[in-house]
Amino acid sequence: MAKPKVFVIYYSTYMHVRKLAESVKEGLEKTSKVDVEMFQFPETLSDEILGMMHAPSKPKDVPEITVDKLPEADGYMFGFPTRFGNAPAQVKALFDATGGLWMSGALYGKPAGLFFSTGSQHGGQETTAMTFLPNLVHHGMIYVPIGFKNPNLADNSEVIGGSAWGAGTVAGSDGGRIPTEKELNIAEMQGEEFACFVAKLAPKGAAADAAQDAAVPVAAGAAPADDAAVPTAEDQKDSGAQPEPAPGSKKEKKHRVRDKCIIV
Ligand SMILES: Cc1cc2nc3c(=O)[nH]c(=O)nc-3n(C[C@H](O)[C@H](O)[C@H](O)COP(=O)(O)O)c2cc1C
Repeated sequence: MAKPKVFVIYYSTYMHVRKLAESVKEGLEKTSKVDVEMFQFPETLSDEILGMMHAPSKPKDVPEITVDKLPEADGYMFGFPTRFGNAPAQVKALFDATGGLWMSGALYGKPAGLFFSTGSQHGGQETTAMTFLPNLVHHGMIYVPIGFKNPNLADNSEVIGGSAWGAGTVAGSDGGRIPTEKELNIAEMQGEEFACFVAKLAPKGAAADAAQDAAVPVAAGAAPADDAAVPTAEDQKDSGAQPEPAPGSKKEKKHRVRDKCIIV
């Protein structure tokens, strides 16, 4: 049986978020409930600026995400470092290119989780989540936080990144701190929890749903078999109401996306 698909999509300059992303992926895969693919947000800074930031070159083993690829997933784990308490411009650049997906409702009703890195302990992991939420909300996506289920989030004996909003690490002002076992454990558990959530929401996955939709053609003007109360095109004409747009027409596709109940 087809499994739902989760994309882990990260941006990382100094690889702290990359390390968290690996733990998130492990957690997702551990459940065997979802298929997982990892991507990077495309870089937008010039090599000159990256050189001045002493940024290492990006790993070649993870492809860059594209706008066209995004709708293939049933759920998304987005990871990124804080930039002045916000998501980095690289992440925003990708979202700013998703107007077409917004128009078609391609991401509507799909869940998303977030994870982070900050330089300092109080550098804004939670504000980074909060300030990113409008991107999800405007797409009609479902934000899935982690609450305090993981006991490491209530452990005050040492510096531990992350919060109820998502896993996190504290990179240090010079980037010298590496994600700790406890931080990675939170990230792994976030992956596990998210996989369970996605599997409940889209048990067969979006690809299977799309194939099923395509296999059931609806005759022009016919009322859906399972809902006799819905008026046909004839009824609507008699009552003076606007007729349904012809199946397959541009108007009908738009109408269908808006009317279809995706979250069951
Ligand atoms: C332009 C810029 C702005 C930053 N703003 C913050 C900030 O507001 N708070 C903070 O704690 N760290 C801040 N940092 C530090 C980064 O968050 C840190 O380098 C990052 O978490 C490391 O993750 P990475 O290794 O995945 O790139 C900033 C870094 C840069 C380059």
